[in-house]
Amino acid sequence: FAGDWHFIWASPSIETLPPMAGLEVAFAGRSNVGKSSLINALTGRNALARTSNTPGRTQELIFFDGPKDAGLRLVDMPGYGYAAASKAKVASWTSLIHRFLQGRATLARVYVLIDGRHGLKDVDLDILKTLDKSAVSYQIVFTKADQVKAAELEQRIAATKTVLAKHPAAFPELLMTSSRTGAGMPELRAAMIRLLDE
Ligand code: GTP
Ligand code: MG
Repeated sequence: FAGDWHFIWASPSIETLPPMAGLEVAFAGRSNVGKSSLINALTGRNALARTSNTPGRTQELIFFDGPKDAGLRLVDMPGYGYAAASKAKVASWTSLIHRFLQGRATLARVYVLIDGRHGLKDVDLDILKTLDKSAVSYQIVFTKADQVKAAELEQRIAATKTVLAKHPAAFPELLMTSSRTGAGMPELRAAMIRLLDE
């Protein structure tokens, strides 16, 4: 997994996606949940994806290619739900996200990031619905685990699993991560490497 991760393409719309190649893994989630930070933590590159304290940082679909010939591509996405941006912009990102998740043949896995402090929101359920309809496997990843007390996290996990039971297309297991401490990164990397072997 380690090696030369690099930016290859940014697409503000569904009409300008890069040619399909290899397997794509996309990171979806509400604005500010930590999608871009997770990509940096996974790749060990601090500033590969741009991060910010302000929701609405990532405004396009951003594609990163891995070490040569590995065949894995990571896709950073704009956030949905809320942002320090106009309603029109958020609506346009949300539509872009849903269209990408529904109609991309090379998309092999989607990680839906949920803030460990907040749990699932209605806008997350909209994304799960879209994913149920497309043929792509998806899994919930809790972020910012370093900010949540263990007992609280356990409660939130249980509540989320109850919801996931109604989404048979989802992985039943959740992943717990922190981009700050690196928790969960080995597990997430291993899951992606297994994807390449499937
Ligand atoms: P948008 O692109 O705006 O949708 O946001 P994003 O989901 O890409 O979030 P981003 O990675 O930019 O992170 C948002 C904020 O959360 C930043 O201030 C990060 O430093 C912080 N953050 C991200 N991951 C973690 C984490 O694991 N722990 C803590 N404590 N903070 C985190
Ligand atoms: Mg981002």
